Amino acid sequence: MLSGKNILIGITGGIAAYKICELIRMFKRANANVRVICTPNALNFVTKLTLQNLSQNDVGIEEFELKEFKPEHISYADEADIMVIAPATANTISKLANGICDNLLTSIACAFRKQIIIAPAMNFGMWENKFIQENIQKLQNAGRIILEPESGYLACGYEGKGRLCKLETIFDKTVEVLKTEKNLSGKKIVITCGGTIEEIDSVRYISNYSSGKMGIALADAAYAQGADVILISTVNVIKPYRVEKVKSANEMQIAVEGEQNSADCIIMAAAVADYRAKNIANHKLKKTKEDEITIELVKNPDILKGLCEKRTSNSQIIVGFCAESEDLIKNAKEKILNKGCDYLIANDISRKDIGFSSDFNEVTILDRNGGIKQLPRAAKTEIAKEILKEIYG
Ligand code: C5P
Repeated sequence: MLSGKNILIGITGGIAAYKICELIRMFKRANANVRVICTPNALNFVTKLTLQNLSQNDVGIEEFELKEFKPEHISYADEADIMVIAPATANTISKLANGICDNLLTSIACAFRKQIIIAPAMNFGMWENKFIQENIQKLQNAGRIILEPESGYLACGYEGKGRLCKLETIFDKTVEVLKTEKNLSGKKIVITCGGTIEEIDSVRYISNYSSGKMGIALADAAYAQGADVILISTVNVIKPYRVEKVKSANEMQIAVEGEQNSADCIIMAAAVADYRAKNIANHKLKKTKEDEITIELVKNPDILKGLCEKRTSNSQIIVGFCAESEDLIKNAKEKILNKGCDYLIANDISRKDIGFSSDFNEVTILDRNGGIKQLPRAAKTEIAKEILKEIYG
């Protein structure tokens, strides 16, 4: 199943390290080439000889035991198709999240440009520690895959969440990542996300509840399929692909139009404010004696429509989103014609269980030839894959 695949397993110093001997066997049985690196602490729980025999390869530990001309951390990172760190201790997780490279394993992980699967295992108090949770979040935001620990009896004698997840879970996720077809490789996909922020004065603004989650899910999915992704975002995210932070509709327009000519596909998932304040005060506006005040608004550019009008290549695919609270399909049909885009992804924002801020969505995909496809309620990560499948087959 994994013939020709190079898997790099990183073992850190937790009691669950002994379980990884079996994981190595599972990968070997699937015909993968396995290399193991350990932190020095991991060797308190498993021996180098065991790992060497099971993986049928040298086991790397110290950073400066250079055998060849190529620096080890670069050559390990270059050879592998995927890195699996299991068990990942709280200590190593915190180093990975903060770019600390104080041993061979952390140095390789830092230099690694493909996917890293991290399977934490630790005492439940450590797992719940807010700094550890922040570091887990940081790694997840940066596109690393975290396989959450399970609850149960822990080696330290307590019951709680912290046990290494099942070896089958690690194995299956590795296979899934390695089998994800890189069918978007060579394609440049520009995606916008989040609600635009339209300033009123130096402290106030107009915006909307868009969380950016749908656009981020699309960018992650496109990146996983090998696309060259540029995410133009109003929300702060750290990703393994390029993220350009913008605030207002005007800034977003400049950023997207700057990428248009070289883009194969543009997906406008952002919730762009239709209006902005006509005048932005560069100081805080004072409260007045009046009970009512009026802020004059002017129309923002319709970025999506502008992109469709300006496109010079017929092969460029432009995708819009629309959020409607009534007559979803009727309004979406009118919108796709009015905007001139190739696909329109329509959401019903009157429902509380999907859409804004939710991790779930249920959308209808309309295409320019009148085709309509409904996707049932699912996680935004799954909806994103389906949308890309619809666009690129
Ligand atoms: O017209 P409406 O706001 O419903 O259209 C939604 C689609 O148009 C979304 O893809 C959104 O990103 C885009 N849009 C835009 N510029 C605007 C308003 C919306 O590009 N000023």
